[in-house]
This record gives sequence, structure tokens and C-alpha cells, in this order.
Amino acid sequence: MKIVTIVGSIRKDSLNKQLALTIQERYKELFDMELLDIQSLPFYNEDEENDPSQAVLEFKKKVADADAVLIITPEYNWSIPGVLKNAIDWMSRVDKVMIGKPVTLAGVAGGPMGTIRAQLHLRQILTGLQVNMMPPAGNEILIGLANSKFNSGRLTDEATLTFMDGVIGRFADFVSSSK
Ligand SMILES: Cc1cc2nc3c(=O)[nH]c(=O)nc-3n(C[C@H](O)[C@H](O)[C@H](O)COP(=O)(O)O)c2cc1C
Repeated sequence: MKIVTIVGSIRKDSLNKQLALTIQERYKELFDMELLDIQSLPFYNEDEENDPSQAVLEFKKKVADADAVLIITPEYNWSIPGVLKNAIDWMSRVDKVMIGKPVTLAGVAGGPMGTIRAQLHLRQILTGLQVNMMPPAGNEILIGLANSKFNSGRLTDEATLTFMDGVIGRFADFVSSSK
């Protein structure tokens, strides 16, 4: 199973990227996961959407070829970061690579809310892209108070990892049954 992951933070020491790397390593028997580069995408411009840069073409091809998409994002100002919205806007146009694609979400925040407002916004945005969203009940990876849960660049909190094992296992089943 081939999964691509989009991280909504381009910060070098991003905790959300650290979560992506934790998932990539911990579930390598379940799926082959690639982290996509959103930093090299230009600002979305409708004038360019039919003849976009190589970075856009490569990004969209990787999404199109994947069995599923995992989006891991921080919350910025009660919503999603602009860099992530930019990537979503590219994916929403022309060849519309997200239609029918199995998707699930995760997020890390320093505060107690664990990105819930960003994830609710993101679900609303992705509805417009006609994705195949994993049902959220019992499957929301919302990691708050993150500073005590990460060590040496990885998620290390045992209770959170155990919870995530269940969600990621159910996501793999969801992707398999969507084929
Ligand atoms: C512009 C900006 C807006 C933010 N807004 C929120 C917010 O609305 N809710 C929240 O929980 N954290 C907010 N934060 C804090 C982020 O959750 C925190 O910086 C987080 O570590 C960013 O994710 P990253 O480590 O993956 O870069 C904000 C941070 C920035 C830089």
C-alpha cells in the first residue's frame, strides 16, 4: 500500500513533521509512505493551472499514484496554514487528483486543543474536493500538549502511540476496502 503524507508545516523542527516521520517508521510493515514537498509549490494561480511548474506536476502525480493521503497539520489561527491550503488548491483543479482518494488527518499542537479547529476546517475544505474521508468517530489523531510527548525528534508518548496504532490500523483497513 502506497501512502503519501502532506505536512502543513514547513518549519525545520516541525512537530507535525516529527509525527509524520514517527508514522513512517512505526508502520513501515503496513505501508510504504512518502512525505511530499509542499515548500517548492508556487502560489496557486489560475492563469498557470493548465501549464504549471514541474514541482506542481510532480506533486500531483505522486498524489494521483498513491492509494491514500495522510494530512498532518498544525493549527494556525483556528484554521489550517496557508502553505497547506495552497497545496490543496493546486490539487483541486484540472486533473483533480483527490477525487475519491482515501484520506485521514492528524495534527500536533503545543496547546491542549490538539488542532481540533484546524481539522474541522480541513474536513470542510476537503468535502469540496470529493475525497473519501475516513469516518472521524474514534479516529481523530489530535495530539495536544506536545512538548511533553516528543523526544529526540519523534513521538514517544506510549499512550498516544498505542491509540495511534488503532487508528492507523483502521485506516489501512479503510484504504484496502476502498479499492
Ligand atoms: C501563525 C501561527 C498561528 C498559530 N495559531 C494557533 C492556533 O490557532 N491554535 C493552536 O493550537 N496553536 C496555534 N499556533 C501554535 C502552533 O500550534 C505551534 O507553533 C505548532 O508547534 C506548529 O506546528 P509545527 O511544530 O509542526 O510547526 C500557531 C502558531 C503560529 C506560528
